[in-house]
Order: sequence, then structure tokens, then C-alpha cells
Amino acid sequence: MDRIRIVGGRELAGTIPISGAKNAALPLMIASLMTSETLTLENVPHLADVEQLTRILGNHGVDYSVNGKRDHQNGNGGGYSRTINFTARDIVDTVAPYELVSKMRASFWVIGPLLARMGVARVSLPGGCAIGTRPVDLFIDGLQALGADIDVDNGYVVAKAHNRLKGNRYVFPKVSVGATHVLMMAASLARGETVLENAACEPEVVNLAECLNAMGAKIHGAGTPTITIDGVDQLSGASIRVIPDRIETGTYAMAVAMTGGDVLLQGAQPDLLQTALDVISQTGAEITPTNEGIRVKRNGAGISPVDVTTEPFPGFPTDLQAQFMGLMTKAKGKSHITETIFENRFMHVQELARLGARIHLSGQTAIVEGVSKLKGAPVMATDLRASVSLVIAGLAAEGETTVNRIYHLDRGFERLEDKLSGCGAVIERISG
Ligand code: UD1
Repeated sequence: MDRIRIVGGRELAGTIPISGAKNAALPLMIASLMTSETLTLENVPHLADVEQLTRILGNHGVDYSVNGKRDHQNGNGGGYSRTINFTARDIVDTVAPYELVSKMRASFWVIGPLLARMGVARVSLPGGCAIGTRPVDLFIDGLQALGADIDVDNGYVVAKAHNRLKGNRYVFPKVSVGATHVLMMAASLARGETVLENAACEPEVVNLAECLNAMGAKIHGAGTPTITIDGVDQLSGASIRVIPDRIETGTYAMAVAMTGGDVLLQGAQPDLLQTALDVISQTGAEITPTNEGIRVKRNGAGISPVDVTTEPFPGFPTDLQAQFMGLMTKAKGKSHITETIFENRFMHVQELARLGARIHLSGQTAIVEGVSKLKGAPVMATDLRASVSLVIAGLAAEGETTVNRIYHLDRGFERLEDKLSGCGAVIERISG
């Protein structure tokens, strides 16, 4: 299994190009199931999760071509974000089997488009990152509110819509990004008006709404807690660009805040992560939006401790919590990091401790006592964001850190080691 080897202690200096957002690309790809015409997505990141979802969609009958070529090894500049055309001329299978869905939670979201277009879907209960129980009750309640008949049978959610879904008002009892995506897609092809209240406001929801509107949907209010959708009879093809990855942006900004140095995050968009950028500046880094992206700089001064609590957008994202904890391990003092979105999202704590971090857990809060020195060690992580927090810590640790099980990193970070070594980090992938 591949590993990443890091020799810590170098400042980062240079330019890091920010890729298209994984969490936007996945729902946009799934939206291709809603039309028989071609959906063209620009700026799709080259990631294991994207490849996996492409296979899953292929199972339902979605054909794809990359930059006009079928072979994605060609014509994409050797692995960076590319343009992909997805065409679901005919849906050949409305079943999403356990073997596929268990590998990636987001693939459960096919339930919305399949049900809306075909009137039936049989989708396995999901797997994905090991961060809490992650139920699907909101999807089921919401789709039932749109008139779907739903049974859970043998680990599968079986959904049927006799004579089309019907628009309705649905108030999410809890903010959910995935359930907002699914209900927005399903309601786009329902009869009549749907009003979603307490919807997720994440930029990826806005990107999906823009895509669906470009396909002919009538969605208003995406990006606010109330989304109104006037159902239409059918959707057409469209072309849309995947937004820049705000989590990748925040991750590299924190890496620079950790090591010191001066890096331009090229193509990054500050409004996608303002709260996180404010927090990073409070730690002592200088954040400057430029025409080209965001410049992050930290010279001389140490890292100041800052308390954070994760919240739905526009709050501090749970997907940056582990990385921020990595940064706080070297702060000059104590910080409190509270996780409110997922239970059990502190698996990185014991691995950070292997590098010399001092962290105590108290319920959903981690109390991090900054240390002056981290020391390299072999570590491994069980989810995507936790893995990258170990990379951040490794970059500032003395000596060598080896991060094992890096398939998690490949799920969500495009060419991580190239981007960091391009800025002076000593980091390499070791195969086998
Ligand atoms: C998405 C992101 C993930 C991010 C998360 C929160 C993608 C591919 N993944 O995940 O990276 O960490 O948003 O910003 O975009 N919940 C229920 N019942 C449900 C659905 C969710 O209780 O039916 C709970 C979850 O367990 C969690 C909370 O709601 O506690 C938020 O989850 P949700 O926003 O749905 O996360 P995802 O869409 O899975």
C-alpha cells in the first residue's frame, strides 16, 4: 500500500493551484442521471472518489468522455482537473448495489434522480468515511413528503413514486448537505412547487442549483435556508463549472500557517470559506485576497491559539476541523475545538499524539495544549480529513513522518505531494 514520507521543518513558498471541489463535483455528476442529454462539467478534480462515482453512474447507464476523449489518461494535462461529459441517454438499471454504494456515501444520492426520472429506485444503505453513524432518515422523510413510497428491505432503500413525485413543503429537522442535494434534484422533476426549509446553505448546494437551473429547472433561494423549486416536466443538457475546493484551500492555508512561508493559493475564492480564513488570520497568518486567488503568509511570529466550533455553512466547516487541530498542536497556548456536526470525528487525536501533540478530549470538545516541538513518527488515519491533518503536522515536525493508508488522501486531494513539494516541502509518495 502506498505511503507518504515527509521530512518536516521546511517553510512553504510558491504557488499551489486549487482544484475543483470534490463535494461539488459529486452531486453535479449525479445530476447527469436526470436528463437524456449531455451534462458537461468543467474543472472536475482527478480523484479516487470521482473515478468511483463514474463507475457507479456507468452501472445506471451513464456514458462519459473526458475532454472529448474516452481515455481519461489523454488530454487532461496529466491528472489535474478536467472537463468531463456525462450522458445518461437511457437509465439501464435503477438498482445501486451494496458493493458500490458502501465504498462512497455520496453515491446514495442517486436515489433522488433515479426516483424522479424513473419513478423507482433501489439503493443500498451507504458506507463511506468512518465518522459517526451517518443515518439516512432525512432523505427518507423528505422523499416521503414528496409522495414517495419507501421501504427498507434487506439493507436497501426501495423508493417508488406512482405517477410522479408531488411538490410539498418540507422542513429539515437538521441541516444536511446530502439531503438538500437529493430533495432539490427530486423536486426539480416533481409536479408543482416544493419549498425546502432549514436547507443547507453550503456553496456546493448553490453550484448544484445553478447546474439544475442551467438544465431547465426552476430553483430559487439556494444558498439560503429556504429553497423554492417549481417542478418541470423534463431537464436538458447543460455545461457548468465545478467551484474551487474550499476545503483544499483551507487545508493548504493552514499548512502555510503551520510551517511559515508565503504561498499563493491560485484560483481560490475567499467568499467560499470566509469564517475559516478569519480564524487562520487570528492564528497569526496574513491572508490577502488577490486577483489570482488568496495569498497566505506567516513570517516570524508564532502561532496563536484560537477556539473554534464547527457549524453548517457559513460557520467553520467540520471538514477543516482535523487540519485546524493539526495547526493548533504547535500554538503558543491552549485552544478548544468543538465538533457539532459529526459524532466520533476525533480519530486524528491519537495519531497527532504520536507526533508529540498534547490533546485531551472532553465530550465533543478537544482541548489542545500547544507544544513547541513535534517529532516525526509513522502514523495512519481512518478518514480523509484526518489523514491530511497528519500531513500538516508532519510538515512542521522534526525528522521523518510516514503517513500510511493514503488511499484516503487520494479520495479527496488532487496531487497533494506534487503541490506541496512544488512549494519546497520534502514530501514523496512511496509505492508498495
Ligand atoms: C457532506 C460532505 C462532507 C461534510 C458534510 C458536512 C459531501 C460528499 N460530503 O456530507 O464532506 O463533512 O457534508 O458539511 O459533500 N444526518 C442525519 N440524517 C440524515 C442525513 C444526515 O442525521 O439523513 C446527519 C449526519 O449524521 C451529520 C449531519 O446530519 O451528523 C450532517 O450531515 P450531512 O450534511 O448530511 O453530511 P453529508 O451530506 O453526508
